[in-house]
Amino acid sequence: MITGKYPNLRLRRTRKYTWSRRLIQENNLSSNDFIYPIFLIEGKNNIQSIKSMPDIYKHTIDKLGGLVSNAIKNKIPMIALFPSTPNKKKDYYGNEALNENNLVCRATRYIKKRFKNDIGIMCDVALDPYTSHGHDGLLKKNYVLNDKTIEVLKKQSLLQAEMGCDVIAPSDMMDGRISKIRKFLDKNSYHDVQLLSYAVKYASNFYGPFRDAIGSKKSLVSDKKNYQMDYANNNESMREVALDIKEGADMVMVKPGMPYLDIIKNIKDNFKIPVLAYQVSGEYSLIKNGIKNKIIKEDAILESLMCFKRAGASAIVSYFAMDIARKLKN
Ligand code: PBG
Repeated sequence: MITGKYPNLRLRRTRKYTWSRRLIQENNLSSNDFIYPIFLIEGKNNIQSIKSMPDIYKHTIDKLGGLVSNAIKNKIPMIALFPSTPNKKKDYYGNEALNENNLVCRATRYIKKRFKNDIGIMCDVALDPYTSHGHDGLLKKNYVLNDKTIEVLKKQSLLQAEMGCDVIAPSDMMDGRISKIRKFLDKNSYHDVQLLSYAVKYASNFYGPFRDAIGSKKSLVSDKKNYQMDYANNNESMREVALDIKEGADMVMVKPGMPYLDIIKNIKDNFKIPVLAYQVSGEYSLIKNGIKNKIIKEDAILESLMCFKRAGASAIVSYFAMDIARKLKN
């Protein structure tokens, strides 16, 4: 690979000037690379801060207009909706997931009606925002039931599709849900609704602030290790992706982000499917706090996002999305 040697060859030569560095840059970021997560709360004309996520807010539905039009102005292709369901609407079975007037359904209808196809809407499919125990599925003796959960996820997916959701993103890690959801959507004539599988989702310690935001942290009984993946594993992630592609996933997600760049690269090298990265809440808060406390420079944000492109990601779900898209545009 290396032709020539020092002193004729000096790799620093091309690094001397900005124009030259720009010329040989191998990857770049643009607004097209981002998915912007939005947290929803009940109520009117209200935004609420999230203690563990500096500068990130939860919004009532009537506040979404400005937010979404900013995302469109900044050329962000897709938003992702996450509800912070009031405790009194949570129960053991997560019934609120199937309520056509729940936060996500109302928000989706509102955004679709107002913005048509100027921006994509992605909705998570999983029960954790709605269950009193904070798990992604139905429980029996503290174990999440696979096949029974899928039956609910199918209905949740169809409901979201009916509301106008463009990309259904199962984040629950049940076995076999992609094929069941695909079949169910097709049977109901939603052939064009895309499936973004959280194919590789690790049982991670970096989800803390998100669980705080949607209010599942305090209620979560034990952990999610009996369905989310062990962070020691790589081969298993290849099997998850292979299965989900067979089952009909249009895109796959790796989550969390930065600690799992090897996994993104592996998928990209082995499967020719769009791979998305989720820079999760814990990653966001660590970087944000580091900047606020002047431990690292603000440029660390771009660095933390560029690495996903280098690893082969097509897009990144990031709480930095709006700020960075605005910067990249100017
Ligand atoms: C669960 C879900 C989680 C996140 C998105 N969907 C957390 C979990 O598995 O508990 C985390 C996102 C983040 O940390 O930013 N369906």
